[in-house]
Amino acid sequence: MIARVRGTRDILPARFTQTVDARIEAWNLIESTAREAFRRYGFEEIRTPIIEKTELFERGVGTETDVNKEMYTFEDRDGELISLRPEQTASTVRAYIEHGMFNQPGLVKLFYIGPQFRRERPQKGRYRQFGQIGVEVLGQSDDPAIEAEVIEMLDWYLKQLGITGTELRVNSIGDENCRPAYIQVLRDAIREQLPNLCGNCNQRYESNPLRVLDCKVESCQPYLEKVPAITDALCEPCRTHFERFTSLLDASGIKFVIAKRLVRGFDYYMRTAFEIVGDQLGAQNSIVGGGRYDGLSQMLGGPPAKGFGFAFGIERMIMSLPASAAANLNEMPALFIAYIGERARDHSFALSRRLREAGISTVVDLEGRKLKKALAIANSIGARFALIIGDNEIDSGAYVLRDMTSGEQRNLSEQDLIAALTA
Ligand code: HAM
Repeated sequence: MIARVRGTRDILPARFTQTVDARIEAWNLIESTAREAFRRYGFEEIRTPIIEKTELFERGVGTETDVNKEMYTFEDRDGELISLRPEQTASTVRAYIEHGMFNQPGLVKLFYIGPQFRRERPQKGRYRQFGQIGVEVLGQSDDPAIEAEVIEMLDWYLKQLGITGTELRVNSIGDENCRPAYIQVLRDAIREQLPNLCGNCNQRYESNPLRVLDCKVESCQPYLEKVPAITDALCEPCRTHFERFTSLLDASGIKFVIAKRLVRGFDYYMRTAFEIVGDQLGAQNSIVGGGRYDGLSQMLGGPPAKGFGFAFGIERMIMSLPASAAANLNEMPALFIAYIGERARDHSFALSRRLREAGISTVVDLEGRKLKKALAIANSIGARFALIIGDNEIDSGAYVLRDMTSGEQRNLSEQDLIAALTA
């Protein structure tokens, strides 16, 4: 047997899996609720290719970031380097530039739903192919109200799904005016601690010192707590921006904590950075990540544009669902038709077409099994009702509708049947 690639999963009908985040019903719930949130807040959908030029992510995400190092990259036949997208902000901004969306007056508010690829070490909640849902707000304004509105939408979304026990962490990572000076201060502070810090910290100290703050290794924590925070080293415009952002969250009644060491893993971020972490995910506790990236359009060769957005992992969102929400998911067919004899088979075929016309989800036993077997199938696919058709039913025009859960049976005409199943 050829098994699937490590770190990838099959998303299956519920009856084929015990794993909640591998259930297609859960994926559909996450996606349809997100679409409703996006409709309410006026976001438009974009679908970008899964493959992009590697250069796009090198320029956007940055070459010294974890995500860049985890990319699936291959050389195409013409020698061009291509990567599977590890995230979709860079692709979305590329499309924004490529299709001249910046010529539109007002903000362009886009959302996407799709797979991303990172060659990470697989573990609970961390896969090599995973689903993301994200939004990007692009345009000429960098008003913190954009950020507060996007977070308000996320808040609505989490409530709608009944997800509790999450924490919103916000920070500002400054801009090109205040960050270079801070990084110098940070380097000096870290240099003194280097012998006490882990190998990864030592490496990041050289390549991307801001990311040292992000280290999760237990033994590094006491030393990292001593280094000065970027939040305390912001220039005046960055500080004002951050204060306005947090006061808008307060005004919307959204709870948050200021996480002074939150820096996020991409080079494109500046000013506001945020994450939503959950209490059900273990080590991979980040559900949502996002932030502001005003320089990205220019980094990709486009005109100056401001941007803010987030993405969340679909698997991690599902793992955060309350057990009750996950248990109630059901997309099973409403009706299973079993028949006895050839005449009944032809009749069932025609009847099923009329029922489907009426909008009723119907499965006919095309294998012509014996009644007992047919009902076992109805049970296994989780049909709510079964209809058993024989000569008597055809002659009398009354069908026997069986409730598969209670076993209760009713005699109904075709018209009543349609009424009962569409009610
Ligand atoms: P990110 O923090 O790298 O941000 O990813 C966002 C979310 O994707 C994470 O919080 C997590 O839920 C999920 N995720 C990431 N890696 C994995 C994985 N290996 N397996 C399962 N889930 C994963 C971004 O991707 C940015 N593009 C977000 C953004 C949009 N910033 C601005 N706009």
